[in-house]
Amino acid sequence: MEFFIKDLNSADYEGLIYPLFYEDNGEDICDCVKSKVQKLKGSDKFKGECGEIFCIVEETEDKLQYTLLLGLGKKEELTSEGIRIAYSKALKKAKELKLSMIAVKMFNSEKICVKRRIKAIYEGMVLGDYKFDKYISDKKESSVKSIFIKAIKDEDVNKAQEALDEIDILTSSVIEARNLVNEPANILYPKELAKRAEKIGEEYGFEVDIYGKDKIEELGMHSFLEVAKGSSKSPKLIVMRYIGDVENKGDILGLVGKGLTYDSGGYSIKPTDGMVMMKSDMGGAAAVIGAMASISKMKLKTNVIAVVASCENMISEKAYKPGDIISSMAGKTIEVLNTDAEGRLTLIDAVHYIIEKEHVSKVIDLATLTGAVLVALGDTTTGVVTNNKDFYKELQNASELSGEKVWELPSFDEYKKLIKSDIADYKNIGGRNAGTITAGLFIGEFVQNKPWLHLDIAGTAWSEKDNGYLSKGGTGAGVRTLYYLAKERCE
Ligand code: BES
Ligand code: ZN
Ligand code: ZN
Repeated sequence: MEFFIKDLNSADYEGLIYPLFYEDNGEDICDCVKSKVQKLKGSDKFKGECGEIFCIVEETEDKLQYTLLLGLGKKEELTSEGIRIAYSKALKKAKELKLSMIAVKMFNSEKICVKRRIKAIYEGMVLGDYKFDKYISDKKESSVKSIFIKAIKDEDVNKAQEALDEIDILTSSVIEARNLVNEPANILYPKELAKRAEKIGEEYGFEVDIYGKDKIEELGMHSFLEVAKGSSKSPKLIVMRYIGDVENKGDILGLVGKGLTYDSGGYSIKPTDGMVMMKSDMGGAAAVIGAMASISKMKLKTNVIAVVASCENMISEKAYKPGDIISSMAGKTIEVLNTDAEGRLTLIDAVHYIIEKEHVSKVIDLATLTGAVLVALGDTTTGVVTNNKDFYKELQNASELSGEKVWELPSFDEYKKLIKSDIADYKNIGGRNAGTITAGLFIGEFVQNKPWLHLDIAGTAWSEKDNGYLSKGGTGAGVRTLYYLAKERCE
């Protein structure tokens, strides 16, 4: 599917997506649809609610011409997220009608600048078009091939093209992340994840180093190795570097992604239903790989290093067990009370590594860490634990731009007490209550004094069904927010 900024004549396309606000009553509307809109507005068939669609079919000399009226709701209530969702619905309708060349008429908005309007339209349509169909023999190709954006003011054409170029890179990075998450665990295990990261690095322009078991042992990443040792698939430490601001090499944003290519729960085994989607337990890794892709391809003037400690959490005679006391790269000891709380054990070593060996100035970790975050915030909002208000503000700004919702959870000292052990420095679970907070704070014990954000994406990295521009399966959560956060750092 390709996008162009071009004012085509109606004879040159099959379908037109015509946006209408709730309050539009026909005055500023083109003659082509004016009388129809006026009649429709008086009926309850089309009100112009956000995402509402009404299809008009007309016969011209040689073909049928489709106009999809697309409601955008009340003008002052319009958001970029509303645009994404509305246009994802319009694209689905165009596919249903098997349209191939469609035009999209641009609309005016005082609230949302032309760049953001274009980006939201593109995201809605391209991400809404995504389907993981790699393993389906009889693939159904999308009918929509070209989309022409019409009615861009002359003075806005350059800005619009710039926005298209940027959002093209950003959405393809999100799709890379979705593909990684959707790949099953029999195909994508640590070695394969590392290979894919390498390939994406080559294509988008960041450097990738992959360390195997010997190097991980040499580094003393004991906690990571304990989780990995139950699997016949060996662990990989994936390090990705992008230095786009050579003069400020001391200022590096560190990203850490949870990279469990499968989480059976280990001896604290999961029930089957909970296990099926555990191929997605590397959603954090996918997010940081996707973010590296967009940051490097856009050549942002900033430095970012990302680390993924990738392994599988399995059962075998070699696996770690509830009751074990293990060590970590930082030298602190941990009493393992539940082998299903494995993500944090891999993350503490990854965080320690990125601070000690890659010398990053700030750390963001992303992880499908707790089922508790779904209970607390559902599948629309990422839970955040942080030690730094200013850094959280940066995340909030980036989240405004991406539309990916975040919410900070409290991190009072009382919660920290819950992860202290009687027989080791820490225990790996804090009890039934406040599971997302104690999991986050466990990682926080290893960030030294660096500004740190922990994003629990267990609810947002996976969607149970197609929903607006999110497709069933991996969502690519985090990629766009991390990109904007890195971009804001250079401005
Ligand atoms: N990978 C899971 C968390 C998860 C749950 C991700 C649901 C996506 C959807 C994690 O490793 C886990 O099993 N966490 C446990 C922690 C508990 C043992 C303290 C959980 O949430 O049940
Ligand atoms: Zn687990
Ligand atoms: Zn897990």
